[in-house]
Amino acid sequence: MKHAKMLTGVTLLALAAGEDLTQHVDIFMGTEGGGNNFPGAVRPFGMVKLGPDLLLSGTDSYSGYLPDGNFSGFSMMHEQGTGGAPKYGTVSQLPLIGNISDPLSNITVSRSSTDEGSVGYYKAETGDGIEVELSASSRAGIYRYTFPSGSQGNVLVDVSHVLPSFRGQGLSQGYEGGNITISADGHYEGSGVYNNGWNEAPDWTIYFCGYFDSAATSNKTYTATGAAKSVEQPGGFATSSSNSTRVGGLFSFSDTEVISRVGISWISTQKACDNVNSEIPEGTSFASVVDDAVAEWNSEVLSKVTTSNTNETSLSLLYTSLYFMHLIPTNQTGENPGWTSSEPYYQDIFTFWDLFRCSTSLMQVLQPTAYEEQIRSLIDIWRNVGYMPDARSSNYNGRSQGGSNADNVLADAYVKGVRGAVNWEDGYKAMVKDAEVTPVNWPVDSMAPDSSTHDGRSALPDWLEYGYITPTFSRAVSRAVEYAYNDFGLYQVASGLGKTKDAKTYLNRSRNWRNHWNPDQTSLGYSGFVVPRNTSSFVETDPLNDSGYWGDPYYEASSWAYSFADVHDMKHMIKLMGGTETVVSRLDTMFTDGASGSSGTIFDPTNEPMFNLPYLYNFVGRQDLAVSRSRKVAKEDYTTGVSGLPGNSDAGAMQTWLLWNMIGLYPITGQTTFLIHSPWFASMTIDLGDKKTLQITSSGGDGNGDSDIYVQSLKVNGKAWKKSWLTWDDIFAQGGTLEFELGPTAVNWTTGELPPSPAS
Ligand SMILES: *[C@@H]1O[C@H](CO)[C@@H](O)[C@H](O)[C@H]1NC(C)=O
Ligand SMILES: *[C@@H]1O[C@H](CO)[C@@H](O)[C@H](O)[C@H]1NC(C)=O
Ligand SMILES: *[C@@H]1O[C@H](CO)[C@@H](O)[C@H](O)[C@H]1NC(C)=O
Ligand SMILES: *[C@@H]1O[C@H](CO)[C@@H](O)[C@H](O)[C@H]1NC(C)=O
Ligand SMILES: *[C@@H]1O[C@H](CO)[C@@H](O)[C@H](O)[C@H]1NC(C)=O
Ligand SMILES: *[C@@H]1O[C@H](CO)[C@@H](O)[C@H](O)[C@H]1NC(C)=O
Ligand SMILES: *[C@@H]1O[C@H](CO)[C@@H](O)[C@H](O)[C@H]1NC(C)=O
Ligand SMILES: *[C@@H]1O[C@H](CO)[C@@H](O)[C@H](O)[C@H]1NC(C)=O
Ligand SMILES: *[C@@H]1O[C@H](CO)[C@@H](O)[C@H](O)[C@H]1NC(C)=O
Ligand SMILES: *[C@@H]1O[C@H](CO)[C@@H](O)[C@H](O)[C@H]1NC(C)=O
Ligand SMILES: *[C@@H]1O[C@H](CO)[C@@H](O)[C@H](O)[C@H]1NC(C)=O
Ligand SMILES: *[C@@H]1O[C@H](CO)[C@@H](O)[C@H](O)[C@H]1NC(C)=O
Repeated sequence: MKHAKMLTGVTLLALAAGEDLTQHVDIFMGTEGGGNNFPGAVRPFGMVKLGPDLLLSGTDSYSGYLPDGNFSGFSMMHEQGTGGAPKYGTVSQLPLIGNISDPLSNITVSRSSTDEGSVGYYKAETGDGIEVELSASSRAGIYRYTFPSGSQGNVLVDVSHVLPSFRGQGLSQGYEGGNITISADGHYEGSGVYNNGWNEAPDWTIYFCGYFDSAATSNKTYTATGAAKSVEQPGGFATSSSNSTRVGGLFSFSDTEVISRVGISWISTQKACDNVNSEIPEGTSFASVVDDAVAEWNSEVLSKVTTSNTNETSLSLLYTSLYFMHLIPTNQTGENPGWTSSEPYYQDIFTFWDLFRCSTSLMQVLQPTAYEEQIRSLIDIWRNVGYMPDARSSNYNGRSQGGSNADNVLADAYVKGVRGAVNWEDGYKAMVKDAEVTPVNWPVDSMAPDSSTHDGRSALPDWLEYGYITPTFSRAVSRAVEYAYNDFGLYQVASGLGKTKDAKTYLNRSRNWRNHWNPDQTSLGYSGFVVPRNTSSFVETDPLNDSGYWGDPYYEASSWAYSFADVHDMKHMIKLMGGTETVVSRLDTMFTDGASGSSGTIFDPTNEPMFNLPYLYNFVGRQDLAVSRSRKVAKEDYTTGVSGLPGNSDAGAMQTWLLWNMIGLYPITGQTTFLIHSPWFASMTIDLGDKKTLQITSSGGDGNGDSDIYVQSLKVNGKAWKKSWLTWDDIFAQGGTLEFELGPTAVNWTTGELPPSPAS
């Protein structure tokens, strides 16, 4: 994919002042092959994600972008890297040529060349020869259209535009009406109402406010009902409260170049106008918006990590991964419809089920200020809607795939010292709500009608009564292992807040995953797996073939994976599995091609439930194998290029897994523990904020993580280190240094105590 960089005057000045790290970001990396990265224009945590929406019948476009298909619009709202079903694609414009007699007839336009772009800049060309360039601030976007000279250019604003879904699971977004008003000065305002999508959301409204810097030669509003021809509406106003009547506006121009500035808001058209007029005021040059975006990405995100490495492949993986982990959640502070609050507000959490293992902990390291705001926002969501989200989009919680994993995130933040303005008494209350109060099963999820997928832990009745989950509830086993992890999170926070009775209760509950352990369940010669069970017996499973979906006992991973999930209780798990040597060989089996009898490994790099697996070797004294297994995955399953991700990015979860592999550490969420493996580079510095840094150096390796990857020795803050793990306080709280000596062969340097298993 071509990397078109707008080199403007300001960018050149910035380049003189410091390195422009955005040059290493490929915004098309991981956009295809299921990665679903969003390639359009966006700021860190930006509410506006302005990019193309491609229509290719039968193919779901999760980020709006597809390499094929026709443009149905260029819209301002998207998710990052998600699967499930498309969300947003709302607040759209589409440029057209000539006289448009039926503007609301679902017009699409073809693409004449491959789209191009760089950080803060996107460019596409339509089959009609219209050049479309996009950039964005946080809550507004800017479009620059260049129409072929001599032709009439038009911009269609179709309020009914959303990303469709062809999956046939009832998760298609709906349009439920809207309106548009053109003012005497030629700007337009309005709103649209939409619903559904992956989280089965009820109606939500987004407001918009758009300006053109050229005078239109004509501007008209329309409605169109069903397949009938568009009807022009008088007075520059069109409205509909019906899902069968589309509304829109068509603006025609004689100028060749037309710039449009558009703001959005979840609150009102007035706020949408304020957002665009404060962030991209009239007269703002397109290039300066791009320059500001580049500057913001450099200063707020990319410059947090620097390295001596000069391998462009590695630099591209590093900086592109940093970029894509900062697109969502969306900072919507002051834009929380439904309640007023002075607390920060972040949404587009898609999802903690994906993010809790290694992503939120990296967010804390790189963005301590934003992270504290995100924790406060989670608690404020509980305050105002009753539960923290496991996932949230269009300001609506859902869907919960497993446990209430915001509990893990809060526990992780708590044990690593996130305090500031966080009200931890309230935070703990929000966690207790998850742990004790079964959410009402409404609205019913047709893919899992037994219990709510909205938020909370809907299999609590069994969990509280039996300490396990019976097949009355779908996803019983995978939910049980997550509930145990969630309860461990409550134990951590209760302990810290001095609630010793609660701490005892929740520590006990965090061991209940053991109740699903059937020592007699076997697979490939190994005994002991977490299995489905009812009140009288275990139910047999086939660990090589029990990965399922919403209605099944295990969600999106098999019992091979879920048997290793409760890492707070590793010591006991190892005992149940038959001891250290058996666990080493059991992990080896998961990484052996063809071990299951079919091609590939049982280890699945494409999805989050197995993220931790290669690093678990540290718990059984084989740090060297953690290094070699994880490095193989990082180097073989992640590459540059449009199909560079092994699976859905999932809000940047995949990218954070890769980043930890480069760093040489791996977090154990909910504890202060970081497992040590091996860094890629001879030198990497992480800016921890407040003038603190973590400096990671290695000698003896190839400086690129390809060979000579085994740790020979390590010094932490200058002192010899013999443990395969360290804690937050060792190197993050005040900063620190890690000095690795690497080499071509494994040596047993980890003679110190094993990583902790606090529940064992
Ligand atoms: C477009 O419409 C205008 C005014 O109705 C007309 O003069 C012109 O010929 C039309 N152009 C085309 C290409 O149809
Ligand atoms: C794509 O757009 C072109 C016009 O630009 C149109 O002729 C064609 O029918 C469209 N294709 C589809 C599949 O809609
Ligand atoms: C436009 O729609 C919004 C939300 O759907 C509604 O609040 C507003 O009253 C409508 N405005 C007009 C003029 O119909
Ligand atoms: C446009 O799409 C809507 C729904 O997606 C449909 O109801 C309508 O009939 C379509 N209009 C035309 C002209 O095909
Ligand atoms: C645009 O719309 C406004 C409001 O309807 C109207 O006052 C103005 O004359 C229109 N401009 C053109 C060029 O049609
Ligand atoms: C449109 O709304 C009607 C009435 O609320 C509803 O019965 C119908 O299912 C809706 N259609 C779609 C496609 O959402
Ligand atoms: C750069 O890194 C890639 C990926 O690790 C590697 O394949 C390539 O050989 C390296 N290039 C050089 C010149 O070292
Ligand atoms: C989030 O948005 C609010 C409101 O615009 C702003 O004050 C705050 O600084 C933002 N947070 C971050 C981390 O940028
Ligand atoms: C721990 O849980 C078990 C059941 O799983 C129960 O019998 C025991 O009383 C609990 N102990 C405490 C201290 O809560
Ligand atoms: C429990 O599961 C076993 C094995 O599938 C089955 O035979 C038994 O009937 C079930 N018992 C209950 C109470 O559901
Ligand atoms: C896996 O299980 C499915 C049903 O869940 C079955 O149709 C399929 O044959 C099984 N495959 C193997 C290899 O056992
Ligand atoms: C590494 O050394 C420690 C301490 O001497 C020992 O307990 C452990 O078994 C050794 N591991 C291997 C793989 O040899």
